[in-house]
Amino acid sequence: MPASPRRIVLTGATSGIGRALALEYAKPGRQLFLSGRDEERLATISALCRDKGAQVSATRLDVRDQVAMKSWIAASAATAPLDLAIGCAGVSASSRRVGGRDLPETLADTERLLEVNAMGAIRFAILAAESMLPHGRGQIALISSIAAYHGLPSSPAYCASKAAVRVHARALRHLLAPSGIKVNVICPGYVDTPMSRRLRGAQPLRWTSARAARGIVRALERDKPEYAFPWPLTLGLRILNFLPDALARFFLHGFAFDVDPDQESPLSRTRN
Ligand SMILES: NC(=O)c1ccc[n+]([C@@H]2O[C@H](COP(=O)([O-])OP(=O)(O)OC[C@H]3O[C@@H](n4cnc5c(N)ncnc54)[C@H](OP(=O)(O)O)[C@@H]3O)[C@@H](O)[C@H]2O)c1
Repeated sequence: MPASPRRIVLTGATSGIGRALALEYAKPGRQLFLSGRDEERLATISALCRDKGAQVSATRLDVRDQVAMKSWIAASAATAPLDLAIGCAGVSASSRRVGGRDLPETLADTERLLEVNAMGAIRFAILAAESMLPHGRGQIALISSIAAYHGLPSSPAYCASKAAVRVHARALRHLLAPSGIKVNVICPGYVDTPMSRRLRGAQPLRWTSARAARGIVRALERDKPEYAFPWPLTLGLRILNFLPDALARFFLHGFAFDVDPDQESPLSRTRN
């Protein structure tokens, strides 16, 4: 694989971390295959990347649509093999309080989180790997979260979706190493994006999306199997796994939050 990837496919390019990654990679000599669902924001990020000298192809895509994803990856790899595939698309939701009782995310949100965050990313990794395998080279990176390290009561399904991505990517890395394909997983802490702006709660050590993108690009260049940031939060969450349950629950109060429902959440319909 070339040290600097030339042909890059990216999901979730229309906002937040994915958008910042697209801008970070946008350079002359690079071909970016960007996807997202929002047509207007897709056009905007594509224009910005073209202004920076990259060749851009933009595709409206829902990561839940396997057929569309398959044809997007095939089309992106049609003229030359892909160097790098980054799965960034994701959604969030939180537990709720109903009649004085705590409940996890709604069933509809739970299914959506698992379908978009976990299956969307894993589907993307498998299809990207299938496209890279005949060439014996390529790199696949999936965006998980530090929420993958310990189940947070504020968002059980989100944590489960990110843990699935993390473990799948780690396994895939070992599986595909003999075939010359690198797999990396990224576990961000709080990053300032439209997603984190819907989160009501403390967000210690929050990074800008540009800083996160620079860190991710560097980590991928170095082929870090797993890049988690910032390290104090990562360490804190990992340590929780070794504490007695009651003590872990005490510290978890520091990670309590609510997420304002997004447009697809059934809760946004009941609020509007
Ligand atoms: N921000 C944080 O603090 C943080 C921390 C840890 C991990 N992460 C992870 O980082 C990734 C990016 O998050 P972000 O903070 O940048 O969020 P964001 O600003 O809300 O961006 C989310 C991106 O995902 C895309 N997306 C959502 N649902 C999709 C679907 N069904 N099909 C295709 N694309 C879809 C969105 O595209 P459209 O809007 O065009 O649909 C958008 O481009 C996510 O996987 C998130 O879980 C974020």
